[in-house]
Parts: sequence; structure tokens; C-alpha cells
Amino acid sequence: MHVAHLSLADFRSYARAEVPLDPGVTAFTGPNGQGKTNLVEAVGYVATLASHRVAGDAPLVRLGAERAVIRASVVRDQRPTLVELELNPGRANRARINRSDNVRPRDVLGLLRTVLFAPEDLALVKGDPGERRRFLDELLVARAPRLAGVRQDYERVLKQRNALLKSAAMARRAGAKAQLSTLDVWDEHLARAGAELLAHRIDLVAALQPLVRSAYEELAPGGGPTRLEYRSSMGEGVPLSGGSVAAARSATEGGGARATGGPLAAALLGAMGAARKQELERGVTLVGPHRDELGLQLGELPAKGYASHGESWSYALALRLASYELLRADGGEPVLILDDVFAELDTRRRERLAELVAGGEQVLVTAAVPEDVPDALAGSRYSVANGEVDRIA
Ligand SMILES: Nc1ncnc2c1ncn2[C@@H]1O[C@H](COP(=O)(O)OP(=O)(O)OP(=O)(O)O)[C@@H](O)[C@H]1O
Ligand SMILES: [Mg+2]
Repeated sequence: MHVAHLSLADFRSYARAEVPLDPGVTAFTGPNGQGKTNLVEAVGYVATLASHRVAGDAPLVRLGAERAVIRASVVRDQRPTLVELELNPGRANRARINRSDNVRPRDVLGLLRTVLFAPEDLALVKGDPGERRRFLDELLVARAPRLAGVRQDYERVLKQRNALLKSAAMARRAGAKAQLSTLDVWDEHLARAGAELLAHRIDLVAALQPLVRSAYEELAPGGGPTRLEYRSSMGEGVPLSGGSVAAARSATEGGGARATGGPLAAALLGAMGAARKQELERGVTLVGPHRDELGLQLGELPAKGYASHGESWSYALALRLASYELLRADGGEPVLILDDVFAELDTRRRERLAELVAGGEQVLVTAAVPEDVPDALAGSRYSVANGEVDRIA
């Protein structure tokens, strides 16, 4: 698939921008702070409904404007789909697909798939576990948009359960008796949504494992090997090998386990039971996918805290390349976005990465200096300066 046209209104630094795009490689170059990343951030937003740089939508709306609009014409199998998103910070965002506004923003997920490489990716390796959980969950949603709903359900139930635990903790401290009758109900909800998310994450990690290993080997021959380890907040003894989604399904279809939804849901319920005393003391949910970690091992050591800067970079790139391979294998070649990554790499890794992505159906590259774009990525060129995006080659 590819984006044939991108149109922005009051998005970031752009009052307006109209950018026609071709398949193949397109490079945006220009001095710092001119709006190169803003362009590709908008493309990424259409794919994920989130920015790769900030958590909320407010910074995406041009200073002084009330709302931002992103329009993208996405071509898949030669058929164009017009996706329009209106970002209204503090209020509900709106979406249109082929001019129909009878859709929710969530329905846009899956129409465009992107894999975005950016300097922020270093946080995948060096940052908090939340960064790695988001990596997994966003990839899950890119592969199966339905899971956006599961993820939302889980977050909602978690919030409600935490509120309940918190008020119970406060009541106990005040010497009153906590109202716990509804907690069991929330436990069941949380276990069900949590088990589904967990099963998909476990299977995803199993699928990524060989792809990350070979991508790392390509980028940094002789280094590694890499090993991904999904670490559950439930501790040891949880079935964490691939095939979890299938196992949960067959357990649920089997009848008896319907109320709990398979072995992972049962494990989550058990872990919540074991942690209940502590949870009531602290007033937060201590077990579940929101507390899990994706361990990134390099050789004998964890990458976080041990890997060198260059190794960490290669690991982050390998995670993105593996995502690309996986989405490609699903069908529907994703758009590759490389935001300012070449400046961070030495010549050899720069060339390796360029070779690995050069064949993509559409590759959008940003770089402050044109010389940073490797020769293997020859294609269309745009200059970005003073709010103008101009085709130069
Ligand atoms: N909401 C906003 N309203 C107005 N201007 C904004 C907004 N958000 C960001 N900007 C401006 O956009 C510019 C940053 O654009 P962008 O990140 O795309 O730069 P860039 O060309 O990628 O630069 P670099 O080469 O340094 O990566 C900054 O000058 C910033 O002030
Ligand atoms: Mg930039």
C-alpha cells in the first residue's frame, strides 16, 4: 500500500500543506525545525491514531488553532481510500472514510499500516517497560485492528478496579470497613480482557523472536544473539510459549472454562487472589499485562543497562525491521517511515539498513542533510523549509 496524497490543516507547524506522494522512496530534507518530522508524524497518526512523539493530541494542533485535520489518500491494490481525521483536543476526535462520517476514528485502524523508525526508538531498548508494552500492543493492533477494542476494554476495567482498590485502601486507613463486594466482578472482567491481550502478546513475541534475531544479525554481524523474553507480572509458572491464542480459544470453546476464558484468565484470577492483600494495602492492581515486561537480551546480558549505544540502536532497528517483516508476511505491504535515523548510524549500518528497506512499496525518509540519505534510497526529493514543502527531484 502507499499514501498517494497527504493534506494537512492546522497540524503542528502547518496552517495548510498539500503533498502528493509517489510509491517508492521519497526523501524530505531541510534544516532543523522546518517541519519534516511533522509530515511523517501525520502519516503515522493515520495508521495508529497516535503520535510517535507525544502521548496526547494537543501538541499536534497548530498553536492558536482549535482543531487539526489530516487527510490521506491510501492506495491499496490500486484502490484509493480517502481517510480524514479531525483532532479535537479535549473533545472526541472525528473520522471520515471516503467522505462518509458514519464511522468512529477506531474504524480507520487497519486502512493504512506503517512501520516508523525514529530517534525515539532508542527508548524501546533503554526506556521503561511501558515503552516495550506499547511497542507490542501497537503492533498487535496493526495486525488485528479488533484488538484496539480489547486494549481499550482492559484499560477501562483497570482504571475502575484501581479506583475501587484506592477507595478501599483509604477506607481501611480511616478504620472503616472497605466495600469489596464488587471487586470480584472487576477481577473477572480484568482477567478476561487481560488474558486475551496477554495471549496475543505471547504469540506475537514468539513470532518476532526469529525475525528480530536475523535482523540484528544483518545489522550487526557477529553481535548478539538477541533473545526476547516475555516476563509476566504473575511470576513463574505461567504458560508463556507460543500458541496461547489457540489454547485460550479451545479452552473457552470447551464450555467449562467459559466464565474465566482459558488458562491465562484462570492464572490471572489466581494471581489477583494471591496479591489481593497487598493490592488492598497499596490501592493499585499489581498483576496483569499492564505490569508485564518484554525483556530484551543480547548475548548473556539484558540490553537495557548493559548494551552500548550502537548496540541499543541496532536492537531498536531490529525490532522495527522485524515488525515490518511480520506485517509484510500478513499481506498488505506497510509504508516504511524513516525519520532522521541515518544521521545516528555509522556508514556500514546506514548502508545495511538502506538495502533492507529499499525494496519497500513506499518509503518516506526525513533527513536534515541530503547527504545523510544513502544512495540506495534514490527517489523523489522534497525540500521542507519555512512551512513550504516543495518537490525538487
Ligand atoms: N502545535 C504546534 N504549533 C505550531 N508549531 C509547532 C507545533 N508543534 C510543533 N511545532 C513546530 O514545528 C517545528 C518542528 O518541526 P519538526 O519536528 O517537523 O522539525 P524537523 O524538520 O523534523 O526538524 P529536525 O531536522 O530537527 O528533526 C518546531 O519549530 C516547532 O516549534
Ligand atoms: Mg525531525
